[in-house]
Amino acid sequence: MTNYIIDAGKPVATIHREIYGHFAEHLGRGIYQGIYVGEGSPIPNENGMRRDVVEALRAIRVPVLRWPGGCFADEYHWMDGIGPKESRKRMINTHWGGVVEDNSFGTHEFFELCSQLGCMAYVNGNVGSGTVQEMSEWVEYMTFDGVSPMTALRARNGQEKPWRVDYFGVGNENWGCGGNMNPEFYANLYRRYQTYVRDYDKAHPIRRICCGANVDDYEWTEQVLSTCYRRTQKAQHGFMDGLSLHYYVHPEGWEIKGSATEFDTETFYKTLCKARYMEELIEKHGAILDRYDPDGHVGLIVDEWGTWYTVEPGTNPGFLYQQNTMRDALVAALTLDIFNKHAKRVRMANLAQMVNVLQSVLLTEGEKMIKTPTYHVFDLYQAHQDAQLVESHMEADAIGTGEWTLPRLTESASVAADGTLHITLSNLDPEHACPIETEIRGRAVRKVTGRVLHGEMHAKNTFDAPEQVAVTPFTDAAAEGNRLRFTMPACSVLSLRVE
Ligand code: AHR
Repeated sequence: MTNYIIDAGKPVATIHREIYGHFAEHLGRGIYQGIYVGEGSPIPNENGMRRDVVEALRAIRVPVLRWPGGCFADEYHWMDGIGPKESRKRMINTHWGGVVEDNSFGTHEFFELCSQLGCMAYVNGNVGSGTVQEMSEWVEYMTFDGVSPMTALRARNGQEKPWRVDYFGVGNENWGCGGNMNPEFYANLYRRYQTYVRDYDKAHPIRRICCGANVDDYEWTEQVLSTCYRRTQKAQHGFMDGLSLHYYVHPEGWEIKGSATEFDTETFYKTLCKARYMEELIEKHGAILDRYDPDGHVGLIVDEWGTWYTVEPGTNPGFLYQQNTMRDALVAALTLDIFNKHAKRVRMANLAQMVNVLQSVLLTEGEKMIKTPTYHVFDLYQAHQDAQLVESHMEADAIGTGEWTLPRLTESASVAADGTLHITLSNLDPEHACPIETEIRGRAVRKVTGRVLHGEMHAKNTFDAPEQVAVTPFTDAAAEGNRLRFTMPACSVLSLRVE
């Protein structure tokens, strides 16, 4: 029996809904085919966006979408993607798969997608191969509402009114694919480029995101902050609202990666342990941020995270198409619990990537679409969006094999604006159910309902069997006073709603 204590009367921080954000890059079938099929497609669509995909994404309340990359962002020249489609440049996507990029999905289509999803826009600018003028004109094109060459161009392209850009990334992975820069060089470019990310819409200033570290490159964080944090903070133009962090889980390392569907128990635990490393990364990068920014103005923005396996057999290696199992569901659940628990500093996170790429929530094949186990975790966790994280604690015993051990359970709890308490838990044990005794402090318990996702660790959905892994009602949680007793199935993710 594991004891679990939740103090619903002790709020810790707001869980910004952006923590449940997504990322869509011009990569493989992520945008083309996966989201955008064009107006003339036989696949049901609205203004070119797949209806099935938009409907599924609306159901998990995607709060924010990052676009156009990724590595693609630092090769993207936005003017290639505006104007009549027939005259947009056709080119090779050199970074991802060497296929033709016809630019039919560009700025206007991105905002159409955000509008259909009802989500915030996070646009990632090009520092690696773009000019300051190009970036500045893009911001003007998107957000200015006055007389200017860019607003006239936008109007000629059919959009009179500006859009709202909520977040703007000043480059991506500039330590690597975004220009192979050293931290001081990038930080100086950041100071310069972000100056011209003008806030035309004073009521909704753009939140600027500085390119942060790869995994455990604490030196990058230190040097970037020392070069641009203090000085930009006081300048009239320029403030760093976020510092990014990228971390992917490769079970067998970057070179080999490992199969998405065929793995043994040791690899299962290794994957979960590697996912759990996210907590150490947040704490260590966060400790550096704390020194520069003790009041917490700068959010840690984990704008790329997830599992990265060897591509599905027979698919283009540059498309990063992979299947998704209950193992991925547990990775998602334990990572989202980590983000929730660190909500004071983590203000946004973007799963890589939304459809058909890496740890996607949706997979498509022609007109078919399936929801992955990871999709269902985002569904179970959506009640945490904008809720108050509350104190919670459990002493779970360790599971695993050899050097790969970790606590059996993960959890987080939050109170929504209407007073409802939401608890999410995952049982990472692939074989054993786990009885839990929960004490809820700081509030009365009138009614408990739950939903659960569980299955064998390799369980997955396929186009022939799309509902193998699905959420079902959980009716096991009995309340006695302020105590809840229930047993979590092996390999499961549970969400409880306490009124
Ligand atoms: O998500 C795939 C790639 O991973 C992104 O383009 C890049 O930023 C990262 O290396």
